Amino acid sequence: MSPKYVKSMALFQRASAVIPGGIYGHAAPAATVAGAFPYFAERAEGSRYWDVDGNEYIDLMCGYGPILLGYNHPEINAVTAEVQAQGDCFNHPTEYTVQLAERLAQQIEGADWAVFGKNGTDMTSWSIRVAREFTGKKRIAKAKQAYHGVDPWCVPGYGGIIAEDRAQIDSFVWNSVESLHELVKREGENLAAIMITPFHHPNFADSQLPNPDFVTAMNELCEKHGILLILDDVRCGFRLHSNGSHCSFGFNPDLMCYSKALGNGYPISACAGKRALKVAASKCFLTGSFWNAAVPIAAALKTLEIAERENLPKQLKVNGEQLVSGMLALGESHGVPLQSSGPGAMPYVRVAEDTSFHKQQALCAAAVEQGLYLHPHHNWFLSAAHTTGIIEECLQRFEAALKNCKSTLNL
Ligand SMILES: Cc1ncc(COP(=O)(O)O)c(C=O)c1O
Repeated sequence: MSPKYVKSMALFQRASAVIPGGIYGHAAPAATVAGAFPYFAERAEGSRYWDVDGNEYIDLMCGYGPILLGYNHPEINAVTAEVQAQGDCFNHPTEYTVQLAERLAQQIEGADWAVFGKNGTDMTSWSIRVAREFTGKKRIAKAKQAYHGVDPWCVPGYGGIIAEDRAQIDSFVWNSVESLHELVKREGENLAAIMITPFHHPNFADSQLPNPDFVTAMNELCEKHGILLILDDVRCGFRLHSNGSHCSFGFNPDLMCYSKALGNGYPISACAGKRALKVAASKCFLTGSFWNAAVPIAAALKTLEIAERENLPKQLKVNGEQLVSGMLALGESHGVPLQSSGPGAMPYVRVAEDTSFHKQQALCAAAVEQGLYLHPHHNWFLSAAHTTGIIEECLQRFEAALKNCKSTLNL
């Protein structure tokens, strides 16, 4: 364990005594490089955060996606403070709920209505119920290695899962038209929906954008066989395209799920859908004790307003491409071949020909040591706070990391 992480480690030991696993899920130490990354955060501002030991990082994970405008954003803070002063959790929704549904129905291509929850999983799981209610069919298909949340039908891993939880779930290979045809030939008459992310971003692998022939086959097969297409835009939403990430690639979804970036860190998720599904949606009971809370919904309204005003997807793409091309050039000049994948706003750069990911882990650990927070096995995220100047600073820290671990990288 690095001596930089004394408080992180002490807190982890306390946590381990009273929390199963100490820290669970994607934040667990084993999900990055145990001992080489901090475990607990304290505060954040713009593109940076500080861990409990006072170490500062430029953050290229943005809280795993939610931070779209930058941490501790003054306009979001102002609006949430104003709304909070009136109260947050009531017996009823507030006008903000109606405003946000109106906004999404107008902003998201193909959407006529929206409902809200807290986490992405709330919406991906609810959307498959809507698809089953509408079509009267049972089966759901997803791409192999795609992540859609922590409910039993889709959670990675097998703890507490029984065979029946996944008995109605099929899978296909991302970007394989042949695999889609096979799936539809086998189960087309029983498929209520296919769930898809806008691009493929599995852990421990390069990201893959959808090929145009895959998108066309997807749209045509769904239309022909009465299968609903559900776009899981939880991770990509509002970073790639203001009108929904399907507009970037040509998917024609019936239901679209959002969370993460929607509230710039406030807990909110949404499912938007086509008019034809509104009655079916109204029959699928949906609620949660905190789901009508006003503050996150007001934060989402403000986040969308600012993202539109700043033409954010364009800015994230340009700055992300600057980051990626800078990293690739630095890799080349230091004799460490790197490869990149994914869109500029959500890039992933890794050491080439490194199937075990050991070199990649060493590089990211060295970057963290230099105050640049990079994830070794998961796509990264840009925010509006990652300006050209901050990208320059990222590249300086990245170069220092490359130099420091060059002997490990050339093993
Ligand atoms: C593509 C995708 N879908 C669904 C989810 C689940 O969202 P949540 O963790 O908010 O339940 C995630 C979370 O990372 C995700 O990346």
